[in-house]
Amino acid sequence: MRNRRSVWTVSTKPYSGAHFATFPEDLIEPCILAGAPAGGVVLDPFMGSGTTGAVATRLGRQWIGCELNPDYEPLQRERLAGQTAGLEF
Ligand SMILES: C[S@@+](CC[C@H](N)C(=O)[O-])C[C@H]1O[C@@H](n2cnc3c(N)ncnc32)[C@H](O)[C@@H]1O
Repeated sequence: MRNRRSVWTVSTKPYSGAHFATFPEDLIEPCILAGAPAGGVVLDPFMGSGTTGAVATRLGRQWIGCELNPDYEPLQRERLAGQTAGLEF
């Protein structure tokens, strides 16, 4: 498999929640796979709507998130509800 270069092209996906800067799941997925082993812990200090936690859960990682604005907690709970854990190496 070819190594990633310094510019990554990822497709955007619509997100209907009320957060101003949600990033695409395809952007964070390779970072999680490279940065934490299956079952490992991912830290997102700027959680926003919870994209990292949702993708980490799907990929079988644990996660810890911090978010300054409590208004985003319902978005995080909604995104994480129903996210099923898988295992990917
Ligand atoms: C670019 S957004 C993150 C978006 C997130 N990756 C997503 O997909 O929804 C950055 C977030 O960091 C939060 N933030 C800013 N300063 C912070 C701080 N000092 N501690 C925790 N969260 C902070 C903001 O409220 C904002 O929701």
